[in-house]
Amino acid sequence: MGKDKLRRFAELGQFDRVFQPGMDEINGKEYFLKGRWKQEVFHNTNPLVLELGCGKGEYTIGMAQHFPDKNFIGVDIKGARMWKGARTSHEEKIMNAAFLRTRIEMISSFFAENEVDEIWITFPDPQPTERRKKKRLSGTIFLKLYRNFLVNNGIVHLKTDSDLLYNYTLNLLKLNNQKILFNTSNLYSSDIVDEILGIKTFYEKKFLEAGSNINYLKFSLNKNSELNELPEES
Ligand SMILES: C[S@@+](CC[C@H](N)C(=O)[O-])C[C@H]1O[C@@H](n2cnc3c(N)ncnc32)[C@H](O)[C@@H]1O
Repeated sequence: MGKDKLRRFAELGQFDRVFQPGMDEINGKEYFLKGRWKQEVFHNTNPLVLELGCGKGEYTIGMAQHFPDKNFIGVDIKGARMWKGARTSHEEKIMNAAFLRTRIEMISSFFAENEVDEIWITFPDPQPTERRKKKRLSGTIFLKLYRNFLVNNGIVHLKTDSDLLYNYTLNLLKLNNQKILFNTSNLYSSDIVDEILGIKTFYEKKFLEAGSNINYLKFSLNKNSELNELPEES
């Protein structure tokens, strides 16, 4: 690891509202804040919103500033990236933003049933091959995990440059009769871009510069319906 990354790693641990549990704290166990984030971290009962694969946390910070009456947690495994958002939150005392460094595969250890109101998935790795499909953050395996802690019919947003991931997610939702609230394969030519949808993440800027279209999908996730995987892609 380079010197700069090491420095960021060390600093990350000193910022307020940053949580980096070790494996011994979560392996098959419940993290001590499970079911208690609002009470213990944010000291309120406001809705809780997650940004998954938050990278530098542009959405976590942007939304926290825009919606002071909601709480936001950015989740990512990469501490050196998260450092940027965590530093902003710490220095600017953005009390309704926090960061959690963990693998999203472990997320059930952190959030209790109905604890989360909304999820944003911002430019996740598309995991384009059939073999890696199970790692897609908007795929069947992860949607099932999210239903464990998302309120019934809770909203999920997906922003992605990947047409493959967008179409896969759209078809998955259609197959499983999940409610699609909005979808576009070209967000910036639609008329729904507002202050929040207009936030551009680090990766989004790179994709826009390379001429990619930005796909956006907003849907609600029903807890009681089946969630079946799509047939194999040819
Ligand atoms: C392409 S980057 C996008 C980062 C940021 N959202 C952006 O738009 O700039 C994908 C991010 O997801 C994180 N990520 C991917 N899979 C993950 C997983 N299973 N658990 C935790 N983080 C994950 C990566 O570490 C990376 O920071």
